[in-house]
Amino acid sequence: KTSPRIRKVMASLIQHIHDFARENEVTVDEWMAGVEFINEAGRMSNDVRNEGQLVCDVIGLESLVDEITYKLVSEADSAPTATAILGPFWRADAPRRDMGATIVQNIPDGDHTFIQGIVKDYLTGEPIEGAELDVWHTAPNGLYEQQENQVEHNLRGRFTTGKDGRYSFYCLRPISYPIPDDGPAGKLLKLLDRHPMRPAHIHFIVSAPKYKPIVTQVFDRRDEHLANDSVFAVKDSLIVDFLPREGDPKAQFELAYDFRLATF
Ligand code: DHB
Ligand code: FE
Repeated sequence: KTSPRIRKVMASLIQHIHDFARENEVTVDEWMAGVEFINEAGRMSNDVRNEGQLVCDVIGLESLVDEITYKLVSEADSAPTATAILGPFWRADAPRRDMGATIVQNIPDGDHTFIQGIVKDYLTGEPIEGAELDVWHTAPNGLYEQQENQVEHNLRGRFTTGKDGRYSFYCLRPISYPIPDDGPAGKLLKLLDRHPMRPAHIHFIVSAPKYKPIVTQVFDRRDEHLANDSVFAVKDSLIVDFLPREGDPKAQFELAYDFRLATF
């Protein structure tokens, strides 16, 4: 049976689309171009290319619903960690890895980075045992593992905290890169005179029993695109500093970042 919520939302959507057409005196040819735009996005989409999501992201819709869903209370150090959009490249089945391991396989270039921190309760500051961090980022060529022929699950992994709530692993210092712009999302960007770049970021989903999971990203402070992310995901409290790392042959940079979760 249809829920009252979906009836109400769809009726409102239709109302707004009609208002849009009236306000702009949309013609038959213009409407048909819009239909073709949607169909093209559908034809391009497959397991590793979610063009519908990309289109939504460049118009700021995923960021907006993220904001609506996880109302940002505050970006203070005492607040729960801010959220950011999931984006189209998360995979549900990332492998579990040992704490302190690297997620980097078979990549000759790139700045290796040691990341560590604590997952804690935002109110009590107590470390959270059994918290899971699911992490993913791109290779130095700007592509996620499923977008090309990399080692499967390269640059992704899941880590589980022990009693001390601590996590640590090696990854790469991310770089900025363009979102896929050879389809409808790219056309839309061009007609709006916008670039497709995303600032360098690392994705995280942090979850723990009895706590609200957070989907988020951390952004490299040195990035020139922080102020004009093509998908509007940057928040001040998610901007981090990668520091030079001394005495570790496995990494040139290090990053310390704690995650603060709220109970249900
Ligand atoms: C999008 C998000 C990402 O994190 C990314 O790496 C590429 C694209 C997006 O929102 O479309
Ligand atoms: Fe991303």
